[in-house]
Parts: sequence; C-alpha cells; structure tokens
Amino acid sequence: MTGEASYPTKVGVDACHRGYYPTGGMDTLASGGASGAVNRDGIVTHRFWRTAARCGAGFAVLAALTAVLYRLTLRFALLYLLVVVFVSLTGDFVASAIVSVAAWLCLAYFLSPQPGPQLVLDNPLNVVAVLAFLATALVVTSLVSRRRASFQETAALRDQLSLVIDTIPALTGVTLPSGAIELVNRRWLDYTGLSLAEAQGSGWRRWVHPDDHELVAGKSRAAQAAGEPFEVEVRQQRTDGVYRWFLLRVVPLRNERGEVVRWYGVSTDIEDRKRAEALLAGEKRLLEMMAGGDALAAVLDALCRLVEEQSAGVLCSILLLDAEGRHLRHGAAPSLPRSYTEAIDGAAIGPSVGSCGTAAYLGKPVIVTDIATDARWADYRELALAHSLRACWSTPMLSSEGKVLGTFALYSREPRGPHDHEQDIVERITPLAAVAVERTHAAEALRQAQAELARVTRVTTLGELAASIAHEVNQPLAAIVADASACLQWLAADRPDLDNVREALTAVVKDSERAAEVIGRIRGLLSRAPASREPCDLGAVVHEMLSLVGPELRRLGIAVQTTLAPDLPLVIGDRIQLQQVLLNLLMNAAEAMRETPPEQRRVVVHSTVEHRGDGAWVILAVEDAGIGFGELDAARLFEAFYTTKPNGLGMGLFISRSIVERHEGHLWGTANPDHGATFHFDLPGMR
Ligand SMILES: Nc1ncnc2c1ncn2[C@@H]1O[C@H](COP(=O)(O)OP(=O)(O)OP(=O)(O)O)[C@@H](O)[C@H]1O
Ligand SMILES: [Mg+2]
Repeated sequence: MTGEASYPTKVGVDACHRGYYPTGGMDTLASGGASGAVNRDGIVTHRFWRTAARCGAGFAVLAALTAVLYRLTLRFALLYLLVVVFVSLTGDFVASAIVSVAAWLCLAYFLSPQPGPQLVLDNPLNVVAVLAFLATALVVTSLVSRRRASFQETAALRDQLSLVIDTIPALTGVTLPSGAIELVNRRWLDYTGLSLAEAQGSGWRRWVHPDDHELVAGKSRAAQAAGEPFEVEVRQQRTDGVYRWFLLRVVPLRNERGEVVRWYGVSTDIEDRKRAEALLAGEKRLLEMMAGGDALAAVLDALCRLVEEQSAGVLCSILLLDAEGRHLRHGAAPSLPRSYTEAIDGAAIGPSVGSCGTAAYLGKPVIVTDIATDARWADYRELALAHSLRACWSTPMLSSEGKVLGTFALYSREPRGPHDHEQDIVERITPLAAVAVERTHAAEALRQAQAELARVTRVTTLGELAASIAHEVNQPLAAIVADASACLQWLAADRPDLDNVREALTAVVKDSERAAEVIGRIRGLLSRAPASREPCDLGAVVHEMLSLVGPELRRLGIAVQTTLAPDLPLVIGDRIQLQQVLLNLLMNAAEAMRETPPEQRRVVVHSTVEHRGDGAWVILAVEDAGIGFGELDAARLFEAFYTTKPNGLGMGLFISRSIVERHEGHLWGTANPDHGATFHFDLPGMR
C-alpha cells in the first residue's frame, strides 16, 4: 500500500480517545463517590460545580413551588416528588439526594399542619416522605446511569468497529441490493478522493479504469443474479490520478429467509504483486529469447521495453563497452530519440562523462537527479536538455568475473531520483542484461572456435589428400611444360606450324586453368573467411569435391558414381562449409573401404528432391561398400572425438552434423542392406 502507510495513525488515536475516555463516564465516577476534595486535573472541580448547579436549579424550583403552595395553603407532596425525579434524571445521585432532603424539608416545614422552625421527624408520614424521596432519587439515578452506561458501551463498540473497518489494509464498502452504497471506509474515501454521494449510481466508473468497466459490470451482474460471491482484479484510480491494481472480493449477506440484504466488498491493493508477476513473466520471456538464440539487439530491446512498461515515464538505455574497454557503443534504447542515441554512440568513458560514461569508468552506479546542474554532465548537458532529458540513473553491467560489460540506464524527463520500485527493477534487470551480453560474447567466441576447428579439420583432411592434390596440380603443370617446350620447338622452325602452336597454347591455357582451379579450391577450403549465407547449387558442390577427392579415390581403386537429380533447387548457406561436409563423407567412405576387395570398392553420390509440407528439400547421400557400422557404433558416430581409426580425430561427423544443422538440415547414417554404409543429409530448398 505504497503512499498510504502513515494513514491509520490519526483514526486510531481519535477513536481511542473516544473509546477510553467517554464523556458520560465522568458522571458515573462522580456519582460513585468521588470525594469532591481538591483535585489536580480539574475533573473533580468540574463535577462539584455541576452538582452544585443542579442542586441550585432544584432549590430554585422547590422555592418557587413552596411559595405557590404556601400561598394557596395546599400540600401536594407529589409535586415535590416530581422535582426530585427531574433532578434524578440528570443521573447525579448527590444532587438528587440533596434536592430530596430539601424537598422534604420544605414539605415538612412550610406545609405541615403546624408549621414552625423545628423539624418534626416523629410524624411517621414525614419519615415516609423523606424515605420515598431518597428512594426515588436512588432508583431514578441508578436507572439513568445504567441506561447511559449501555449507551456509552454501544457508542464505544461502534467506535471500535469503525476503527477496525478504517484500519484494515483494504478499501471496504457495503452496498444494498438496490445498488446504493451504504457505507465505505475512510481508506476508501482517502484513496478515491470522492465522497459517498459521488460514488452512488454509476459513480464507480469514475474510479475504475475504463478498460475494466465491462469486466466489473459483467461480474457484478452475474453475481447479483446468482446471489453468489465474486472476485475480480481491477485497476482503481487514486486521488492523484494514478491507477493501481486491486483484487475486489464481494460477498453477500443473507437474512433468515435467504434473501440477500447487503453486499460486502473488500478491495486489496495487489499492485506490487501484479508488478512482480509482470516482471517475472517478462524475465521468463527474455530468458526464452536468450535460450532460443535471439540476436543480442532484440534481447536488449525487449529488456528495455519491459522496464519501460514497468515504470511509466522512464526511458531505458543500454550501452555496451567496446572490446578495448574505452568507448560505449549503442546497445538498445527503443524510446530515446535516435538523434540522441546516435550522438552519444561511441562516447569515451571517464571520471566525468555523463551518468553512463562515469558509471562504466568507476564500475559503480551513478545517479544524476538533475542533468541541468550536475557537473558530470557538463559535456553532454546541452544535448540531453535539447532532448528534454533531465535525470539519468546508470548502473554498470558486470560480467561474472566483475568486468564492466556496459551500462544500464534509466532516463527521466523530470529532475528526480529513482523511486524504490524503479531501483528494484534496475537491480533485477541489470544482471539479466549482463547475462545476455556475456552469453553473446561467449556464443561469438564459441562460433569462432568452431569455425577454427572446422578449418583445422579441413586442413587435416587436405593433408591426407596432399599426395593426390600434388599429383593433380603436377599433371597440368607437366603438360604445360611439355606443351610450352613443343611450342618453342615449333616456333624455332623456319616455317612454324602455327596451327600446332595454337593448339598447344590452348592446351596450356586449359591446363593452367585446371591447376588454378585446384589451387583455388584448396585455398577456399583453407580460408578463414566468415560463414556466408548465399544461394548454393549442391550439384556444383558435388562436382567440385569430386574433382578434388576424385584422384585420391581413383588412386585407392574406388569407382565413383553420381546420380544427381536434374532440377535440384538451390539451398541457402555457406559453400565452403557444405563442401567440407561432402569432403568428410567421401573421405570416411574411402577409409571404410580399405579392407574391401578392390573390385567391390565404389562410392555412389545420390541427390534427390523431396517435397514436404514446408516446401522442397534436397537430400544428398554418399553410399559406400565398406565395413559399415554396427548398432552400437551407430549411436556414437556423431560424438566429438569418437573414432575407430588409429590416426582419426573423431571430429569429421561431429563437425559435419553441426554444419548441416546450422543450415537447418539433418545428417544421419544408415547401414546398407548388404554391406557398407550410407550417410545422408537434407537441406531445405531456397524458398
Ligand atoms: N562410411 C563409414 N562407414 C563405416 N564407419 C564410418 C563411416 N563414416 C564414419 N564411420 C565411423 O565413424 C567414426 C567417426 O567418424 P568421423 O569422421 O567423425 O571421425 P574419423 O573419420 O574417425 O576421424 P576424422 O576426424 O579424421 O574424420 C569413424 O571413426 C568410423 O568408425
Ligand atoms: Mg572422418
């Protein structure tokens, strides 16, 4: 109940005073025999004078009555009794006893058959009269006191009840079946700032959020029709115009005939819980984004939006420290003006460079409550003020080793510090942002390591092919040398045969192109170029790899066949990586056939197109007639470092599978029905 914490105190004190020191109680104390002696707090004096006043009034009435009756020589004892009763109705026994005695004296002295200065107590009638007066005074005052005590008790109970109703940490109200609001508690009045009269009829629409009107009206209609309790989560407007979430619970009260006579409603503030739930849901969404491998920019953008949703009016910004740790680069700031984010992009960090530059430099949060006056904003003040930014609270994002990764900042358009809940959000979200950044760094490092590993294995594979490649390059070179020598000889003749020379030179060009092609392919496979995504023709990939591996396969006595589908759709990916997959499969096939009788050694490369629900897929398969693999091996073939070869690394299939999966495809192996194995991979055709 933010902003309402101090509320109950006053109500409590007032009610306590009413409850514990009721005014009427003083009379009870006085008539119970308070001495009337000197007192310090004035209470006894006050009682004395009040009793004296009552006596005085009683005496005056008695005197008047006696004078009249004396003149008329009437003796109406009943009239004196009435005066005693009137005084007794004040509940003051002392006053009524004194007046009783005075009444009797008047009666006995002035109106006795033998009036005289002496009191006549020997007359039994006189004794009866004085006793009757005193008894009447006693009975009436005690009745009045009792009545007054019960009245005070009721009032005290009512006070306590209203104290409880006003103190419970909720807005409460009672409604009649007609819909008229009978009462609401003080908290309700203070929260809404409305009077009970203003709340009547459709007045509830004034404090319930317009988007919740339908929901509340529907629920309440249904509950009234069924006479059942209901609850609903609803936004209620505070007197300052801010809406907060409340859980409204309403229950009916029934009479003995089962009819609903009242509806009791309690609204509990659930704003903090709602906020925590929304934050948790947002965090979950962000974690899912991170786990799903979403781009860092998208994650940071979502993170900023989450914070901005949670704290109305703030603008969120994330800056990332560059690799050298000297400059801050734009990370995300979906709501800050682009001209501002562009202007601060690349700012150097330092001991006095705005909130973010300083926070990144010090590795500590920097809270600037007024950009207009804070010395740390000297260099960026004009820029910020031109964009109506007045406050900026920046927190460094730290890696698990405590290294600054960047800053997480909230801007406000008013000069102020962060509210408690904004501080909480920053404390919860900053580590999440740091995890996102650190994870991206780690993923980038992993990607680089994988690329390097793939390159190393390509180099290793090419090493195995070195002899064939050398041969492959040597052949055209030898042919070039032979053709060139022939040309020289022909040209040395008196009448050179230019047709022969032309033919030989054409062969030279072709051979040099062939050699250049081989070298180019090897260079491609050895390159460190980053992975690309471009349309690739898998048929061409097969030809290129067979031209590279073909000589080696032939050297090993392996027959190579290809059955390629004519209209293979293009696939999107990195040509070199796809070449590497095929190279690995061909090399594995060749190695699997070392023990195969020479006449059975053959590799078949098939390509087919399959039309699935989501479009065309290209399937490439490399079939061999080698030793194959058993069921036990099948489960481990794609594990890193699993090899059955003395000089194998066990990385070929592992890397191939990760390449294919990065291209959204699959790689798998099957044992052939007779002997040997077939490895397949599929890739989605270009859509
Ligand atoms: N065509 C095949 N026929 C039978 N077994 C195979 C075939 N291809 C792979 N294997 C088995 O799978 C294992 C793993 O193959 P992988 O290509 O990952 O590593 P490797 O060939 O042993 O070593 P390298 O990392 O040098 O390629 C091989 O050692 C082999 O036992
Ligand atoms: Mg291999």
